[in-house]
Parts: sequence; C-alpha cells; structure tokens
Amino acid sequence: LVRGYLVGAGVIAREHAAASHLLGEAAELHVCDPNPAALAAFTSHEPGAIIHDSVDAMLSEPARADDIVVVATPPQTHADLAIRGFASARHVLCEKPLGMDLEQAQRMLRAARAAGKHLGDCSMRFLGYEAEDFIRATLRTGQLGPLYHVTCRHRTQRGRSGIEYQPESRWFLDRSKSGGGVLVDWSVYDLATLFDLLEPVRVEVRDAWIAQPRTGADPGDVVFDVETHVGASMRLTLADRSTLALSYERASATHGAAAGDLLEIEGRDGAIDWEWLPYLAGSTAALVRLDQAGKPTEEEHRFSSEGTVNWHHRPLLFFHQKVRGSTSAPAIANERALFNYAVIQAMYGVAATGQAQVVDMAEIG
Ligand SMILES: NC(=O)c1ccc[n+]([C@@H]2O[C@H](COP(=O)([O-])OP(=O)(O)OC[C@H]3O[C@@H](n4cnc5c(N)ncnc54)[C@H](O)[C@@H]3O)[C@@H](O)[C@H]2O)c1
Repeated sequence: LVRGYLVGAGVIAREHAAASHLLGEAAELHVCDPNPAALAAFTSHEPGAIIHDSVDAMLSEPARADDIVVVATPPQTHADLAIRGFASARHVLCEKPLGMDLEQAQRMLRAARAAGKHLGDCSMRFLGYEAEDFIRATLRTGQLGPLYHVTCRHRTQRGRSGIEYQPESRWFLDRSKSGGGVLVDWSVYDLATLFDLLEPVRVEVRDAWIAQPRTGADPGDVVFDVETHVGASMRLTLADRSTLALSYERASATHGAAAGDLLEIEGRDGAIDWEWLPYLAGSTAALVRLDQAGKPTEEEHRFSSEGTVNWHHRPLLFFHQKVRGSTSAPAIANERALFNYAVIQAMYGVAATGQAQVVDMAEIG
C-alpha cells in the first residue's frame, strides 16, 4: 500500500489522483484544500479520498517510510508546503516550478536531505517516451559526430495559462503567486527533457531576454506582470567536458509566426530532430539526417504514444518508482531538479542584468 498526501485539490491534483490508481499497488489517497468548491469537485472524481481540514492535520498522522506528499498548489506556497512535507518525514513530489526563487528551492533540497527523503519535480512530465530512448541510443553510436549546436524553439501565438488556457486560474498571471510566466510554466519542461538526454554538468547563460507581447485579450482587472515570450543563448558542458551551443526560445504569446517549432541536435556528421511533445501529433518522433556521398539523407522514426501512460500521470508514477528504489525511473529529483531550476533563474538574472551567469553541478546544493 502506498499513501499519497495531496496538498491542493485543483486541476492538476485530479491528474495526480488518477495516477495514484496506476502505481501497481493499492493507494490510499489523502487530500486537503482550503477551498470547499475545489474539494467538492475533487471528491466527485475521487470519492474514496480521505479529506482533511488542513495540511497540518493531514500530515500529523505518523509517517510510513514510502509515504508521498504531492504539492499541487500555486507556486507561492510550494517551498513552505514541501518543507512541511519533509518535516513530517515524507517524500515530496512538487509541482513545477520548485519555488519562487533559487533560495526557496535550495531550502527545499536542504530540508529533503535533512529528512533523508527525495524531492521530486513534476517537470519530468514528458520523460520516458520511446523517442528519447531512440535518440539517446543514436547519440551513443557516435554517428552524428561531435555535437556542436542544439536548437530548442517552441512558439504558440495565444496559449497563456490564465488567459487562453485555464482562465479561471488568474494566479498564473501574477508573478507574486506564480513565480513567473512562460519560463516557469513551459521552459521548465523544455530544459528538463533536453537535460535528461544530454545531462549537462555546467550551463552558461550568455544572453537572455524576456518579453510580454500585448494583445486585446490581456485582462485589465487583475495583476498581469509575467513574461510570455523568452529567449536565451547558452553553452552546455557535458560530462565528457565537450561543449555545445543551445539556441533557446519559447512563446506562449507572440505576434510572430507560430511555425518553426524545433528541437534539433546538430553534429559534424549528422543531425537529429526530436518531436518530444506527445500531444502535438499523437506520437513522438525522431528524424535522423545524415550525409551519403555528399547528399543529405533523412530517416523518420515515429513512436505511437497510444497506450502509454499519459504525461500528466508520469510524475507520480516515476517518483513512486524512485521512492521504491528504482535507479532507472526517469524521475527528476534532488540535485538535478535544483540544477534545472537554477538555469531557469539564471535566465531571469541574465535578462535583468545583461551579465552572463553560470550554473555548475559541482556547486549545487
Ligand atoms: N493546470 C495544469 O494543466 C497544470 C499542468 C502542470 C502543472 N501544473 C502546476 O500545478 C500547480 C497547481 O496548478 P492548478 O492548475 O492545479 O491550479 P488550480 O488553481 O486549479 O488549483 C490550485 C488549488 O490549490 C489550492 N491551494 C492554495 N493554497 C493551498 C494551501 N496552502 N493548501 C492547500 N491547498 C491550497 C487552491 O485552493 C486551489 O484549489 C501549479 O504549480 C501549476 O504550475 C498545472
């Protein structure tokens, strides 16, 4: 039996609850939320969940070794709730982003270490798909030659959380509640996925910019001060000390073209395009480009995502496997989670100051 303690009963909490039924063992689900309407909507989906009046009441039960607290609230509460989870001697799976700033995320990891528990980060949502395994194996063959450039670009013209997506959750637009805009909403997935593949040990953010394009749908009655279009130029150092450039861009609003989404890795002898978002085409894919006698060749490998675990259910599934001792579950946790978040924060820092910043795995924690 695994016991899950859900803090927050909103939109994403329902997905974690659904995931708790897919763990391969019985799950006992506990939940708390100060909003009665959210709790009522939640329990109509999860009639078996045990409701508690407060986080403190919920976490005051004696802990068992593999209990998991899932923090599924707006980001302004993540650090405090996660630290309370560790103080109750439980593992904590936290929704993205880890906190409001680097200092909060560092405190979370320190609390995890003090408790001897894992800190999981839900930015692992798009990991574990076949295309990634295929690309990892392809890179190992060396057939792309020395890698020198990655392009990661994704633009949606109107796809802002809190406006076009889930407009009932206006907190997404208020930096003091969300911790940021598209960088903490979507770039966290871009980096988590790319870094899971490449495992950089050092990232230098050389340049970065953030912007908020204006549209006729911008709400005038609530705080809206988060970025919705970002870009950066980075240099990644991999474990073998080789380095490669990363050209990065992500928009949840732009007046520019929506076309041109690309996640591509280029080497001296070949390149690979990676379609990693399973919901875009109903599948993930890898496109391998090589050279044959001076002519470009192209080979597509498409992997159906049908029948595989939904991306919203993956964080709890992978984290549960990690808690149970798996070393192969693609769970983003602990030092890697903090490293990835530090790169996100470095992008804010570089955008604000114009000065390059370095995130080094050796200095994390
Ligand atoms: N909605 C999505 O599709 C989605 C996807 C991935 C990740 N997330 C992440 O999940 C988190 C929550 O987002 P959401 O969309 O579920 O928000 P939501 O607005 O639907 O729900 C948040 C819930 O948290 C509750 N809450 C606030 N403070 C609390 C506290 N101290 N204790 C207990 N409950 C508290 C609120 O009452 C609300 O019911 C965010 O970090 C978000 O980035 C959301």
